[in-house]
Amino acid sequence: MASTPADYKLSYGLWTVGWTARDQFGEASRPALDPWDYLPKLKEAGASGVTFHDDDVAPFGTDDAQREKYFTRFKDAAEQVGLTVEMVTTNTFAHPVFKDGGLTSNDRSVRRFGLRKLLRNVDRAAEFGAETFVMWGGREGSEFDNAKDLNAAHNRYAEGVDTIAAYIKEKGYDLRIGLEPKPNEPRGDIFLPTIGHALGFIAQLENEDIVGLNPETGHEQMAGLNFTHGIAQALWAGKLFHLDLNGQRSIKYDQDLVFGHGDLISAFFTIDLLINGFPNGGPKYEGWLHFDYKPARTDYMDGVWDSAAANAQMVTMLADKAKAYRADPEVQEAFRTAGLMELAEPTLAAGESISDFLADRSAYEDFDPQIAAERNYGFVRLNQLALNHLIG
Ligand code: GCO
Ligand code: MN
Ligand code: MN
Ligand code: MN
Repeated sequence: MASTPADYKLSYGLWTVGWTARDQFGEASRPALDPWDYLPKLKEAGASGVTFHDDDVAPFGTDDAQREKYFTRFKDAAEQVGLTVEMVTTNTFAHPVFKDGGLTSNDRSVRRFGLRKLLRNVDRAAEFGAETFVMWGGREGSEFDNAKDLNAAHNRYAEGVDTIAAYIKEKGYDLRIGLEPKPNEPRGDIFLPTIGHALGFIAQLENEDIVGLNPETGHEQMAGLNFTHGIAQALWAGKLFHLDLNGQRSIKYDQDLVFGHGDLISAFFTIDLLINGFPNGGPKYEGWLHFDYKPARTDYMDGVWDSAAANAQMVTMLADKAKAYRADPEVQEAFRTAGLMELAEPTLAAGESISDFLADRSAYEDFDPQIAAERNYGFVRLNQLALNHLIG
């Protein structure tokens, strides 16, 4: 039986459907609604969760009394509609004060202001019961390699993230940080450009236990990288805390297409991994499937809701196909031919010492590389079986 959006934990950034389509070259092509007015239609599109930046709900500079009113109204509306606020994030990129970064600006007063804005929003995330606090450092970076002391910049970035993590622990909040890598845009080069860079950064932190990743499909693809491999490594490292699903067609500006509207084959294998897990078991993603896309500028309000629903439809369709693919006996047989199950077996035997290994003549002296070189792994047939499920 076909699955429905309610079978998955699907969530949307308020800024996705809320994008009025202002871009580098043109004015907004759609009106803005009040934040709470997006919620019923998001629910209808298939959402069970919603996420926001602080400034999406209460615009930058709103006074404290008004701020509380906005957030109370939003919280009430989300509860009424039945949407969980599973993640909260902070805007440290839009206001020109952040033009050289929030946590890595050369100007210390800006860094202190950015850190206060972030800590204030940690309290907000906890108040809303969010599980993840995403940090996308869109303005952390440079256009010119001589614009920053790059060592100091990484020290300040680590100091900022560690301070936020320490605050979460001090307050006893049940919240984890998800760093979101992106190679460029809006900065010429952004710090923590890919999943791999971010994993290396996290390993240097004092509070690394509550810091993981929020990888985005299109961001890895903007760097020409394989998103499924990237999230697989994050899972393997126990660091896939959250993710941003969307679509991207090759190395160019951040397109934020609907999930699956970029590289469809890659989207199939992403969902196969997220829904079915690794073929031999291992760490499995249990978190939200969060969409961070933009409705096309050429669409008006009907198109906003069509595109929101399209993301949910892509997940349900791909999940159904991925489940059928894994259950197919022909695929199982092709997995065995390809050696997928063999790869789960440790290369050294249980208890085998290095000297035992060196003494094993069958591993080397009597091994015939020519015969092994003639093995037909059948990867093309296996891939065709996947495509039969995807297209068939
Ligand atoms: C982008 C990013 C953002 C972040 C968001 C959450 O390319 O603009 O993907 O949409 O995900 O700011 O922190
Ligand atoms: Mn993006
Ligand atoms: Mn984007
Ligand atoms: Mn994102």
